[in-house]
Amino acid sequence: MNYSNAIEHPAFKTIAWVAKDMGTECYVIGGFVRDFLLKRGTPKDIDIVAVGSGIALAKGVAAALEGNPKVSVFKNFGTAMIRTEEVELEFVGARKESYHFDSRKPVVEDGSLEDDQNRRDFTINALAISLNEDSYGELIDPFNGQEDLEKKIIRTPMDPDLTYSDDPLRMLRAIRFASQLNFRIEKESFEAIKRNRKRLKIISKERIVDELNKILLSPRPSVGFALLYKTGLLKMIMPELTNLSGIEEKEGQRHKDNFWHTLEVVDNISVNTDNLWLRWAALLHDIGKAPTKRFDKKIGWTFHGHEFVGSKMVPKLFRRLRLPLNEKMKFVQEMVLLSSRPIVLAQDIVTDSAVRRLIFDAGDNIEDLMTLCEADITTKNPRRYKKYHNNFKIVREKIKEVEERDHVRNFQPPIDGQEIMEFFDLKPSKEIGIIKDAIKEAILEGEIPNEYEAAKAFMIKKGTKLGLIKKEKKQ
Ligand code: CTP
Repeated sequence: MNYSNAIEHPAFKTIAWVAKDMGTECYVIGGFVRDFLLKRGTPKDIDIVAVGSGIALAKGVAAALEGNPKVSVFKNFGTAMIRTEEVELEFVGARKESYHFDSRKPVVEDGSLEDDQNRRDFTINALAISLNEDSYGELIDPFNGQEDLEKKIIRTPMDPDLTYSDDPLRMLRAIRFASQLNFRIEKESFEAIKRNRKRLKIISKERIVDELNKILLSPRPSVGFALLYKTGLLKMIMPELTNLSGIEEKEGQRHKDNFWHTLEVVDNISVNTDNLWLRWAALLHDIGKAPTKRFDKKIGWTFHGHEFVGSKMVPKLFRRLRLPLNEKMKFVQEMVLLSSRPIVLAQDIVTDSAVRRLIFDAGDNIEDLMTLCEADITTKNPRRYKKYHNNFKIVREKIKEVEERDHVRNFQPPIDGQEIMEFFDLKPSKEIGIIKDAIKEAILEGEIPNEYEAAKAFMIKKGTKLGLIKKEKKQ
């Protein structure tokens, strides 16, 4: 079968004639071919393999392309890249590779197309389409990658022990592709990942996190996380999560398996958001449950304060995994800290003051918090499921109503410390804090409206009670 319809992009024509002119064989290979056969989105990068020098071919192609784009050369890797408006063209010379045991850096030798396909990670990533005149558009598929695409299987071209030991990042790539494409990892490969899991040590944290993020952004992240768990990789990467697994029973009382519950929450939230950090929050929302788990004869299993403990664990985990330590981390921390608040609220009569407090504490993140809490409902009891969702609907309506009326989101009390100091002629002192807090509380509790005059009257009342005297009276 001819696949010239895969290579309609005008860049391919240019690459083909430049290669012909140079007398270099070349092929498009890897993710581009895989995603074309899967009919998966528009490609962002196109990998070209040249039997010869990839760098020389890239230079020739750039000179022939309109506008003569710049070529970035990575001499050490024997690769070159041209960035056009729509795609990145990556060029590499076909090679044979062998690896040192303690490094991902291969010893590279020139090779044939077949050598190059052999050294690739998965059969579905080793597919190539010819850009050569005599076979233009022909698919070269020595490992039945096309069949694996149809059967939805991740399989290595060579002995999986070799493929994974050579480059242990591939263990995470296998799991990531399984999660992104909803594929199955073939048994031999799965067993090899289990055996080689310790090799992950030589992979940088940045690369690991890059794959974790891709798994988290896949349609059903539980596919990937379940595989990470079953292969033993998750325990090495995030023991905070694997510590949540298991069900304990004491005196006939059992708690749920918080690991599998977490994965359900992550899948649930993924239906409603593509926000990576909200998905991280879902993944980490219960991590405080392992260190806070207690058994009490009267009330059974408890996880008191797990939200607070969990939120304190977030920075450590982010630092260890080299995740950003900026406002993204703060967002995840806040989500974990507040993760039970709407649930508690929804179990009771939803009062205005409780809603005001929630809006005040969550600020602009209130919508995301509600999305997280709705995802947290994993009960299999249809009656309860319906009840919780209905209650959340009420909470959401109340949030809208209260916010429209009271404007407490990101609210600053209408009277600030400066005004209190001036009014009572005070130097900085603890009374100012007391009055400020009392005003905030009164507004959140609904004792006074969120307005200047009412707040001022309240300030005078509170100050008088504290024995403070108005400035004018002193004179
Ligand atoms: N490859 C490999 N081993 C790796 C990384 C990449 O064998 N550890 C090969 C695969 O043939 C892969 C190609 O290099 O298809 C390009 O890699 P990359 O751009 O990282 O991935 P894609 O397969 O293009 O997929 P995606 O863009 O979704 O990451």
